[in-house]
Amino acid sequence: MSAPLLVASNLQKRFDSRGRTVAALDDVNFEVAPGETLALVGPSGSGKTTAARALMRLTELDGGDIHFDGEDLLGLKGARLRAVRARLQMVFQDPRAAFNPRATVARVLDDPLRIHGIAPRGERPEAIAQLLQRVGLSPDLASRAIHEISGGQRQRVAIARAIATRPRLIVLDEAVSALDVSVRGQILELLLDLQRSENIPYLFISHDLGVVRAIAHRVAIMDKGRIVETGRAAEVIANPQSDTGQALVAAAPKLRHRA
Ligand SMILES: Nc1ncnc2c1ncn2[C@@H]1O[C@H](COP(=O)(O)OP(=O)(O)OP(=O)(O)O)[C@@H](O)[C@H]1O
Ligand SMILES: [Mg+2]
Repeated sequence: MSAPLLVASNLQKRFDSRGRTVAALDDVNFEVAPGETLALVGPSGSGKTTAARALMRLTELDGGDIHFDGEDLLGLKGARLRAVRARLQMVFQDPRAAFNPRATVARVLDDPLRIHGIAPRGERPEAIAQLLQRVGLSPDLASRAIHEISGGQRQRVAIARAIATRPRLIVLDEAVSALDVSVRGQILELLLDLQRSENIPYLFISHDLGVVRAIAHRVAIMDKGRIVETGRAAEVIANPQSDTGQALVAAAPKLRHRA
């Protein structure tokens, strides 16, 4: 396997709320290699989003080390941090919360192209049309407002925005969970196509093992802030060793029929 692009070591994060301390991350370790999809799965509250937000530098860790593309991610500031942010993108569960609903699709896609200096002003309309085509949307959608398009279209726009900066890694946190089954299948196909054509690795957070089996090469199962099991996705799902993994598989009866 090629050298990992992302190495997260001994991540630690506690939250204090109403006099109680929660260990959201307790010695969490994982790696993502170029072209690979690592799924983080686990019950609600197990620390998946905290891990994702720590990678994006949206949550300050109490301890640990993250190396991305050979750089010490947690030590970066200012211009170097902004440069890394272009290469590390995230797609959230509910793109409505991530977008200004009154912004046009063009505006949403123009921002990263401008902020990260990807394309000069005169070339941005063409760059936006190309991004829309890459995620299977008509360039005519550019003039529509975010609140005027469907949930599936919005999630494609979120993916277009994520790939606008030519990222080296995309973190997807429950990115298909809110979509109905047929749209979910289309977005998964789109993600697989993008990965095949551009070798972009994904950190894919989900609690749907069916989705994980369709998209992930490896899986790490989290519970109460710890990784309790890792392995090849197909093997872990077919034969989970940890109690948490067994409970997740048992809660997804359709998986057993298809296995
Ligand atoms: N800002 C915060 N303040 C206090 N506690 C928090 C905060 N963010 C997360 N937590 C707690 O940290 C733990 C891990 O939360 P996290 O959101 O990472 O879980 P998750 O695995 O993403 O869950 P879900 O599947 O429901 O999205 C939970 O106990 C949660 O309540
Ligand atoms: Mg979460």
